[in-house]
Amino acid sequence: MPSSMETKAKDALAQPDRVAAGFFLFRRDRGEIRYLVLWNARRDEPGFPKGHAEKGESLRETALRETLEETGVGDVRIGMWFERRMRYRVRAGLKEVVYFVGETTASDVTLSPEHSRAAWMTYDEVCATLTHDSLRAEFVRAGAYLKDAALRRGLTPSQGRALLIQHAGADASVVAHTTEVAAVARALADRCVEVGIEVNADFVETCAWLHDIGRSVAHDERHPLEGHRIVTAAGHPGYAPTCISHYTKGRSPQLLGLDKKLARAMHEACDLATFGWEEQLVALADAMVAGTKRVTLEARRDDLVARHGSVAFFEHAHRAVREIRVLFEQRVGSDLYSLLGL
Ligand SMILES: [Fe+2]
Repeated sequence: MPSSMETKAKDALAQPDRVAAGFFLFRRDRGEIRYLVLWNARRDEPGFPKGHAEKGESLRETALRETLEETGVGDVRIGMWFERRMRYRVRAGLKEVVYFVGETTASDVTLSPEHSRAAWMTYDEVCATLTHDSLRAEFVRAGAYLKDAALRRGLTPSQGRALLIQHAGADASVVAHTTEVAAVARALADRCVEVGIEVNADFVETCAWLHDIGRSVAHDERHPLEGHRIVTAAGHPGYAPTCISHYTKGRSPQLLGLDKKLARAMHEACDLATFGWEEQLVALADAMVAGTKRVTLEARRDDLVARHGSVAFFEHAHRAVREIRVLFEQRVGSDLYSLLGL
């Protein structure tokens, strides 16, 4: 008899007998993300709107149709890049379910006989409610992709530093650079808190400690994705997006001229279009540290151009951080450079 590992490997390659598609469907409620959970009437099992594909339908069309049939919700905005596939064995053979993320503004749900109840739940509530580990693992990915604020806790700055040392401790230059970026990011975040801007300063500092952790694997344009992978694998997916966004700085990877495959992988890992204030502070801090030295954004750009030539990437990135600087100074009401002693 084949081992369960052999069966799994075989199933990963086989043509599934049935394909279904559905949504991690959410709505925003006063800044908090709430996901729709449905309980299946037959087994009273919690899950998400989903169903079998009909002939000629794309999987996104299936997910939309099934959601409308099962919940009455027809207004759904589909997250462009998130797509996760799960495979498991059912009586009818090998089944594949594809999940997307979908946002709605609707809150009223009209159930079909297939489900007995429904609830809009927070990230933590969903995690505690789901009964299958594999489905929970995919849901966690959705939360990380959406940068659900509930995922942005669990690591203190010193734990972030410890994780960096564990992976990149052998590279003294990475540790020294990161130490200064963390100090700058902390100063910016603390200043925001002082003037009453809602910022999680610990989150900002922890992200700063982790932003370059991927340099333990690669120093080139692959380090953001490597970092994202390391932080996610360490069990802290909420802290992983900064590994990519400190690099893309709110710009699309295509615009920055990054390789197509790499750009797609970055988009799939997290929502790059939602460039939160905290992430912006980390990106800004990183753009003001050359090696271990605090410098102005202009000096940092000149340094990069002197070393690598005038690459379009640096120009785009420079423009992006200049915009963050303007926003920061408007909101905080003080000059960025004098605040940092430049
Ligand atoms: Fe950096």
